[in-house]
Amino acid sequence: MKIAMLGSGFIARFYATSLHDQRRKDQVVSVYSRNKENAGRFAKDYGLDHFTDDMLEAIEHPEVDVVLISLPNHLHKAAVEACAKAKKGVLCTKPLGRTAKEAKEMLDMVEEAQIFAGYLEDLCYTPKFLKSLESVKNGAIGKVLWAKSRETHPGPHSDWFWDKEKSGGGAIIDLACHCVEISRNYIGKEVRPLEVMCWADTQVHPIDAEDHAIALVKYANGAIGQFEVSWAFRGGMDLRDEVMGTEGTIWINNFLRTGFEMFTTGDRDNYVAEKAEVDKGWLFPVGDEAHDLGYPNMFTDMFEAMETNRQPRETFYDGYVVNAVLDAAFKSAETKMWEPVILEDWRGADVEEVSKTAVSFDENYNLIKEEILPNGDIKYILKHKTTGDIVQKIKS
Ligand SMILES: NC(=O)c1ccc[n+]([C@@H]2O[C@H](COP(=O)([O-])OP(=O)(O)OC[C@H]3O[C@@H](n4cnc5c(N)ncnc54)[C@H](O)[C@@H]3O)[C@@H](O)[C@H]2O)c1
Repeated sequence: MKIAMLGSGFIARFYATSLHDQRRKDQVVSVYSRNKENAGRFAKDYGLDHFTDDMLEAIEHPEVDVVLISLPNHLHKAAVEACAKAKKGVLCTKPLGRTAKEAKEMLDMVEEAQIFAGYLEDLCYTPKFLKSLESVKNGAIGKVLWAKSRETHPGPHSDWFWDKEKSGGGAIIDLACHCVEISRNYIGKEVRPLEVMCWADTQVHPIDAEDHAIALVKYANGAIGQFEVSWAFRGGMDLRDEVMGTEGTIWINNFLRTGFEMFTTGDRDNYVAEKAEVDKGWLFPVGDEAHDLGYPNMFTDMFEAMETNRQPRETFYDGYVVNAVLDAAFKSAETKMWEPVILEDWRGADVEEVSKTAVSFDENYNLIKEEILPNGDIKYILKHKTTGDIVQKIKS
């Protein structure tokens, strides 16, 4: 694939590094930046022939097959619109929109134009995430009951993130978009998110948006999603997922504690890892940052999907559902109530809450729990099938 990059900032560089690394065949051929000098520097760093400060020129570049949107959130929609008009495939970074309304407009644009569209949700492509998701889908942890995801760090690196109008919110829009999609994958994308209860506050920074939030997302099959996000966390970037099922548990640490620990007394002047706060003392570097954040797996899926005419794992529709969950979270943080997730376009299943299945112990009792005691006895906690009385029986 030949790619036009829109934007030349932080994520554009991460994407370009992933694309041009390891002798990959898909290459960025053009870059747009509003500042031509920045575009030129980016083009030089990545060996591109073409750079411009005219967005349409990059999109319409005759060699370009697909456009990669790495612009601030308030510019995603206009960029998608331009790609739809030019009939070029489009990959958009997260969050898709600032609201579900904006995301739905983008979804409609790409569907009407019949162009390829992919949602660049990298944290659903990390090696640990993909492996764990396979285990979940294979039934290794039974029915998923609770899927929790956490992303916290000391705050983002550019002015526009902190401006609620441009970004669409604070830590929720910036970080919870990842967490919601991670939980949706584990619980099942066909399962409808129903309602959200969210606490959010501005605990530290002098901004209008929230810099810390925690929320619960209730799903139609009885599972619960949870996100914990913060721009006030100190100590680096903490990316963790936790999934609990009826038959097992998975814990993933994607970034801060990956098994790579280093101590240095010296004054280093080196990059350690994204959002690392210090460069001496005990450090937690990341072996292959782009890979551990999922970028190469994500682009492989996107381009294979384009080539074989299938949907990628993460679509604009997914981006829209995520935005709808976040809309409910913002509302709940204000009303302090459970708020419904409004999805005018629901394409999943209409599952009712699954009834709990009781395990029969004998003709009178259902089994609540069985445990081996330190002396080797087995203790059964039982509930009577008709009276509901709870008793225990010991087998020596
Ligand atoms: N893990 C991830 O997937 C991830 C990580 C970081 C950022 N992002 C997303 O990437 C997008 C860009 O974030 P970033 O961190 O690269 O930001 P950034 O500020 O580092 O870069 C933004 C780029 O857009 C350009 N830009 C800014 N304002 C503009 C304007 N008004 N008109 C035209 N161009 C403008 C900047 O010059 C720069 O090239 C955001 O949507 C963000 O949420 C995703």
